Amino acid sequence: MNVDPAKSNLKAPLIYGGSLDGFDSFEVTPLIGREYINVQLSDLLYSEDAEKLVRDLAIIISQRGVVFFRNQNIDIEDQKRLTQQLGLLGGKPATSGLHVHPLHESPENEPMDTEGNTDEEVFVVSSQAQDRLYKGIAHRKVKVDSSAQWHSDNTMEVCPSDYSFLKMKVTPESGGDTLWTSAYAVYDRISDPFRSFLDGLTATYAQPIFSTSAARVGIKIHEPRGSPLNVGDDFSVVHPVVRTNPVTGWRGIFAVGLHCQKINDVSAYEDKLIRDYFLHLITHNHDLQARIKWGPNDVAIWDNRATYHTATPDVFGATRIAVRTNSIGEKPYFDPKSQSQADSLKSVGNGVNGRH
Ligand code: SIN
Repeated sequence: MNVDPAKSNLKAPLIYGGSLDGFDSFEVTPLIGREYINVQLSDLLYSEDAEKLVRDLAIIISQRGVVFFRNQNIDIEDQKRLTQQLGLLGGKPATSGLHVHPLHESPENEPMDTEGNTDEEVFVVSSQAQDRLYKGIAHRKVKVDSSAQWHSDNTMEVCPSDYSFLKMKVTPESGGDTLWTSAYAVYDRISDPFRSFLDGLTATYAQPIFSTSAARVGIKIHEPRGSPLNVGDDFSVVHPVVRTNPVTGWRGIFAVGLHCQKINDVSAYEDKLIRDYFLHLITHNHDLQARIKWGPNDVAIWDNRATYHTATPDVFGATRIAVRTNSIGEKPYFDPKSQSQADSLKSVGNGVNGRH
């Protein structure tokens, strides 16, 4: 069978099968986030009904944007397995695996343990390693505007991440929370005429930091990175401004954050105006956000097509270490037949998430 490495294999959005209904959970806010209580992800993964459960979990993550599980015993191999299963059962191309961080081979990368081991499919998130890897990169030193750190994962790749899985290992007593904003809800805050204009636009997503950092320490950029299409070291790609999530069929604003360099085909003034507007909608509407205060071994899994996220830079030198695995999905696309989340839920009689 020929697989197109750019395309989701879903012909229609997935329908939730109800297999997680027996587990206690609560919505973190009406618009985004769910937390499951007393569930171990390792039990789901090895259950007789694993396929149903993991597919339903993928659907819930895509619908709610981000899902939290406290104090998990899942080990790193099973974390990798579950991340990949979420992507596959969510319909990603069979050629897509887990992302390999471009600087995986850098001597400044954070090891996973005291023996110095690294795993190419696991990124160890550590504030100390970030400072080493991106040493001398001017914008990382600017601490006056944290809003610049909102992003979704790997949007500078031809096939960015669909699902990301972050397990917290060491967290400060206070600080280092992570926040997510719903990309569906941001789209829902925009008027119809302005949406019509945005729907047809593309943006350039680029991240020169990786090549600069690799050159500084004399390593070659790792490739391929989770897809046969994620190769090379220029990290510059064109994706739509409004993206359809194949799992839900909902539209979200995609052109946000660290890796989004410019909106194409508009003037420099208009580019700034549009991207500032998106950031304004994120930072001025905290009802579109969910936030986790981490404890050791807590897990968050999110859909990068449905959310943006940012860690909070208030750890002040304390140790904060987490392990992240990123499933690589399809090449982003805009489907003119897709709907906004609010319009789609309205059509099934659920008014939540309407525009104000
Ligand atoms: C990430 O940006 O993917 C990691 C978020 C975090 O460290 O909280």
